[in-house]
Amino acid sequence: MVQLKKNPEKSQTSKEVVRLLERGHADTLQKISQLEKALLNLRFEGKPSLGKNLRQAEEVLDFLRNQLMKHIRIEEKVIFPFLSAHIPKLESVIHLLEGEHDEFRKNVEDFCFELEAVSKAKAGLGFGRTLERAQETGTYLVYLLRNHIRAEHQSVYKVIHSELRPDEKKELARRITECKTHGGSK
Ligand SMILES: [Fe+2]
Ligand SMILES: [Fe+2]
Repeated sequence: MVQLKKNPEKSQTSKEVVRLLERGHADTLQKISQLEKALLNLRFEGKPSLGKNLRQAEEVLDFLRNQLMKHIRIEEKVIFPFLSAHIPKLESVIHLLEGEHDEFRKNVEDFCFELEAVSKAKAGLGFGRTLERAQETGTYLVYLLRNHIRAEHQSVYKVIHSELRPDEKKELARRITECKTHGGSK
C-alpha cells in the first residue's frame, strides 16, 4: 500500500497565512515592551533622562500611528470581512475587536497630544500632572494592546488555523498581500 505523505501545499498555505498575520503582532508586542520600559524610566529616572525617555516613547508612538494603524486597516478591510463571510459565528467577536480598534485610535491620538504637552512643559508649571496623564494613557495602551492581541490569537486567528479550508487560507493570504502592497495605506 502506498504511504500518503502530508499535503505539502496545505501546510505551505497555512504557514504563509500565519506568517502574514502574526508578523504584525510580534512587532507590536516588541514595541509595547519598549513603551512600557520608557514609561517606567520616565517615572523613575526623572528630569535628567527626560529627553532620552521621551524619544523612546515617541519612537513607539510613531510605530503605533503608522505600522499598527496599517495592521488594523488590513484586519478591518480584509481579514474580518473575509472571516465574517466564511465563519458567521465569529461576527460578535469581530464586532468587539473592531470596537477595541476604535479605542486604540482614540488613545493613540490622546497619547500623542499628551507626550507633546510633556515635551513643552519640560521645566514649567504643571509638568508633574502632564507627565502623569501621559503615563496613564501610555500604560492603558500597553494593557489594551496586549489584551487585544491575546484575544485575537485565541479567537479569530485560531479559527483561521482550524476552520478555513486550504483554498480559503490561500485566498485570504492573497488578499492580505494585495492590501499590504496596494491598499494598506488608503
Ligand atoms: Fe486587531
Ligand atoms: Fe491584530
